[in-house]
Amino acid sequence: MKRLLTIAATLGLLTVSPVAVQASPQQDLKAFRAYFTKRFPDVPLQDFANGVYAVDKASREQWESIEEFPPYELNIEKGKKLFNTPFKNGKTYASCFPNGGIGIKQNYPYFDTASGQVKTLELEINECRKKNGEKPLKWKKGAIADISAYMAYTSRGKKTNVVIPDDPAAMAAYESGKQHFYAKRGQLNMSCADCHQYNAGNRVRADILSPALGHTTHFPVYRSKWGGLGTIHRRYGGCNKQVRFKPFKAQSEEYRNLEYFHTYMSNGLKLNGPGARK
Ligand code: HEC
Repeated sequence: MKRLLTIAATLGLLTVSPVAVQASPQQDLKAFRAYFTKRFPDVPLQDFANGVYAVDKASREQWESIEEFPPYELNIEKGKKLFNTPFKNGKTYASCFPNGGIGIKQNYPYFDTASGQVKTLELEINECRKKNGEKPLKWKKGAIADISAYMAYTSRGKKTNVVIPDDPAAMAAYESGKQHFYAKRGQLNMSCADCHQYNAGNRVRADILSPALGHTTHFPVYRSKWGGLGTIHRRYGGCNKQVRFKPFKAQSEEYRNLEYFHTYMSNGLKLNGPGARK
């Protein structure tokens, strides 16, 4: 019996949940952060905002030279112009956001108790357009990513500050995002955590896997592979596909809840978006 237990434990087959007490988001965050700081004891907490470059010295130098002439600079310019260009009714995006939309990204996504759902920055950019009689933008790239990049840029240096209000609906959204992160899926039967937690720092094909801690600080991201900017939901879709799972739609409830959990796990980390990645 003892030997069998040891084998099961080695294979990670023992799920330790004798009492089914739900961990609070605060407890989750503490455990999540501790996992990564223990796994990478030489990486200072704030450095996790740099993704794979925090844990892989070889690619870090390459990346630092890319950041000297950031490929997303033009996107920030375009985003700023779009952000400040009045709609046909004369109003601008600034009218839809707290503080005129400047330096607020650290509070996103948030749970909107009035509508009972998670609101992301991109969702509110399009809600703002609709409210002002404009057509919504496509979700994953293009103008929406440019505007989001500009808004992220004005929030650089602010600490991620996602709030889970004391509301059963907010908790349910958080739990659904957590479930997405830890559930195995696709033909490869792998979870986000299998790659970005338990194998962070390890190689999968040509890539070193980034730690999930700090994943959300730098979106939208300019990816060389995309030849442009993309939102975090574009990335979620790509990662779902990697395990041969049909992705959810960008801004679906599923991905908004995932972003809620995923970003909450990086609370306290400074924003540094937009970012540049391979
Ligand atoms: C089969 C392994 C695998 C799985 C499963 C996977 N990813 Fe990824 N993911 C990658 C690889 C490879 C990259 C590119 C290298 C890197 O930054 O980790 C990546 C990149 C990312 C990035 C960008 C990191 C950055 O610094 O910009 C995010 C965010 C991300 N994944 C989130 C997720 C989420 C959320 C899930 C679950 C829905 C998931 N991934 C599932 C392999 C995986």
